[in-house]
Amino acid sequence: MKKPMIEYIKNGAYDELYTPKYAIEPLLKYLPKNIKIWECTDFGKSNITKVLKENGYQVISTHKKEFDFLTDKANFDFDIIVTNPPYSLKDEFIKNVMNIINHLPCYYL
Ligand SMILES: C[S@@+](CC[C@H](N)C(=O)[O-])C[C@H]1O[C@@H](n2cnc3c(N)ncnc32)[C@H](O)[C@@H]1O
Repeated sequence: MKKPMIEYIKNGAYDELYTPKYAIEPLLKYLPKNIKIWECTDFGKSNITKVLKENGYQVISTHKKEFDFLTDKANFDFDIIVTNPPYSLKDEFIKNVMNIINHLPCYYL
């Protein structure tokens, strides 16, 4: 059985399914180097943060433990959000993204 499928089964809930590196690498060519990226669901070991940093990007990483994306207000600057939201809250995340990013681009994995 493939590793992502094993993780999927082990985690039960659909919210703690983590992004594999291979899903982020294809995005890199679309991201200008001088931008500040917000990974707003980094549980501490997000490959999104890892791969972006390894490729020279400035990344701000937050997680609901210290920053609830749905209720807290960002008091920092960022240019775009790159994240993989919890499945059970996907609609709320999309609505909130539309409110806070306004005209900014957004990648959903
Ligand atoms: C699908 S996982 C993705 C984790 C990581 N971003 C990645 O791509 O591997 C979604 C994460 O969002 C977290 N989360 C759930 N509700 C949240 C909230 N309101 N604000 C921030 N993070 C939240 C979950 O605990 C989980 O770690």
